[in-house]
Amino acid sequence: MRFVFFGAPGAGKGTLAVKASLEFGLPHVSTGDLFRVAISEGSELGKKVKALIDDGNLVPDDLTNEMVFKRLALPDARNGWLLDGYPRTIPQAQALSERHPVELVLDIEVSDGTIIERLAGRRMCRGCARSYHTIFVPPKKEGICDSCGGELYVRHDDHMDAVKQRLLSYRKKTEPLIEYYKKKKKLVSIHGEGSTEKVWTELKEIMTRHLA
Ligand code: AP5
Ligand code: MG
Repeated sequence: MRFVFFGAPGAGKGTLAVKASLEFGLPHVSTGDLFRVAISEGSELGKKVKALIDDGNLVPDDLTNEMVFKRLALPDARNGWLLDGYPRTIPQAQALSERHPVELVLDIEVSDGTIIERLAGRRMCRGCARSYHTIFVPPKKEGICDSCGGELYVRHDDHMDAVKQRLLSYRKKTEPLIEYYKKKKKLVSIHGEGSTEKVWTELKEIMTRHLA
């Protein structure tokens, strides 16, 4: 069971992958979350990637691949995983297919208007990286994570200049993966507009059918 959650910044990859991880008992591996942990720990990797991420640029493929393959080698990933935010370039997809062929790529489709609206109101938990939204997915208590009680914060790359750069990187380097996986007959498109529950219901059905 090796799934990729694919989509533009703010499409809902993280929100849906958290639900799928609980539902199907598979580890959620988000490259963005792994990089943010490295940055907050002040590790060598964190120091190398901080400026790139803050400005909305992609991290080089070699650093990203190394981090992902280390994570996928851990025991909890033996029976499968949910990748979120990886692969994001053709060379990343090629490197992944050589080691761990993907079964299904779930492409969450949303409009640019929705992306801007979702990123503008996003709040992230410092403790468990869960995503909230001030209007669409508010926490029970303002500024506090429902799951772990952690502090909610605004991601540096959710400021408008970085969002514009992330969208440019997505269009140029990541969107070509849609054709790449279509040709391999591994791509499934999900209508990502509407409430989280509505999108999750559609996604859960697709994943359940695939696993049957
Ligand atoms: P990453 O953290 O992966 O950022 P991203 O791809 O830009 O995606 P986001 O996390 O912003 O959005 P999401 O799709 O997870 O949406 P979410 O569920 O939070 O990567 C960050 C950076 O790390 C990259 O820019 C790059 O620099 C680097 N990086 C990462 N991977 C890399 C790679 N492979 N190669 C190179 N560099 C890499 O939802 C967004 C908001 O909307 C939330 O507020 C949420 O509550 C809300 N929401 C979600 N669904 C709904 C819904 N249905 N209705 C209403 N609101 C919703
Ligand atoms: Mg995310």
